[in-house]
Amino acid sequence: MTNSEIKATLSFSDGSPSLEMPIYKGTVGPDVIDIRKLYATTGMFTYDPGFMSTAACNSSITYIDGDKGELLYRGYPIEQLAVNGGDFLETCYLLLNGELPNAAEKEKFVATVTNHTMVHEQMQFFFRGFRRDAHPMSVLVGTVGALASFYHDSLDINDPHHREVSAIRLIAKMPTLVAMAYKYSIGQPFVYPRNDLSYSANFMHMMFSTPCAPYKTNEVLVRALDRILILHADHEQNASTSTVRLAGSSGANPFACIAAGIACLWGPAHGGANEAALSMLEEIGSVDHIPEFIRQVKDKNSGVKLMGFGHRVYKNYDPRAKLMRETCYEVLQELGLQDDPLFKLAMALEKIALEDEYFVSRKLYPNVDFYSGIVQRALGIPTSLFTGIFALARTVGWIAQWKEMISDPEQKIGRPRQLFVGSQTREVQPIEKR
Ligand code: CMC
Repeated sequence: MTNSEIKATLSFSDGSPSLEMPIYKGTVGPDVIDIRKLYATTGMFTYDPGFMSTAACNSSITYIDGDKGELLYRGYPIEQLAVNGGDFLETCYLLLNGELPNAAEKEKFVATVTNHTMVHEQMQFFFRGFRRDAHPMSVLVGTVGALASFYHDSLDINDPHHREVSAIRLIAKMPTLVAMAYKYSIGQPFVYPRNDLSYSANFMHMMFSTPCAPYKTNEVLVRALDRILILHADHEQNASTSTVRLAGSSGANPFACIAAGIACLWGPAHGGANEAALSMLEEIGSVDHIPEFIRQVKDKNSGVKLMGFGHRVYKNYDPRAKLMRETCYEVLQELGLQDDPLFKLAMALEKIALEDEYFVSRKLYPNVDFYSGIVQRALGIPTSLFTGIFALARTVGWIAQWKEMISDPEQKIGRPRQLFVGSQTREVQPIEKR
């Protein structure tokens, strides 16, 4: 972050003294105006619900150019990472450490993560406290938060070694917890991790093996899952990442912060969109019903949205959606499902929406969730677990952002202010007089 020679001047029409504010330049992307002295100098706050124009931190992890439809992790385009960048654990290493690993670093990192895949045996009792039909996201909020009660030896957020160990534990144990949530929901025994398998192959083993039948690894499907994880690994200061940072700004431990991120991700406007997009396709049912559905989407009173479309930052095709569409095709091909009616419906819906004035004028394009549901369904993952897979992938992004925040000398407890529009001071009346 460097100082710009240009300064911003805020002037007032009532003749109050104007205020000069510094402007900082990042390496790429919009400059920022430093308003930190605004309140002390003028007694006023800025008003920005939804943070439409607010940079709440500086970060060197992920960059999005929404107009170009570009996503970079530590400077590397997502397309290159997804196609030539190795597996998900290489992306994890990159997000956490800033550089792609060489062969020796990769081997050490994989060994370290693999060493932490099991969860404490007591964890199963947390699962058993839930109803079998509990939503996996509620189970994950609870069980990830519960990890804090098992790892007292890595909770000192001021100790870099503790932070590192917690980060590895979270990345290593998330697949185990997500698979346990699934197994519990269908009444099958939990399956222990296998450390001879890759991160994604092990996850599929824990999901789909039973004590009587081992899961046979299919490289195309493992690669597809790995790509889902890479594409969802981080996304700059989105709602759940900002939640993790805000929770962490109070000094809360990393397991509690990630549990807060999972809670935020659950919402249908965020991580819940992949589940909602697939349900939407199932409800539409056939290509003939698309025009009526589009009519409802355009009717503001209907409350219907085209799920998997639109994004706060991307005003162009989400680069992740392109890769996901490609993966969708490969997976369906591998499984002999090329004629999958939902995939055909999704492609027809996308084509119609991309030509429609409503979507064109609002710059609404498919986002990553438009196709990820179809891929996950083909992999055998139930709809209710889609957001859990997103949480599993995003854990590395959350923890990398959390670590960056803790090490930032400018970090303060997050404490937004408000424009108060409620009652002024008034007297409490005894109940008989109210
Ligand atoms: N279907 C129909 N209309 C839409 C949609 C949509 N999916 N998204 C935005 N619009 C309209 C919106 O009604 C508004 O119209 P108008 O200007 O006439 O009032 C205009 O487009 C601008 O939308 P907005 O709500 O101001 O945009 P936002 O930045 O606040 O919302 C969003 C972004 C992702 C919440 C929204 O596009 C949405 O709800 N999309 C569907 C849910 C979804 O797919 N979410 C996944 C996001 S990607 C994964 C992730 O990062 O979590």
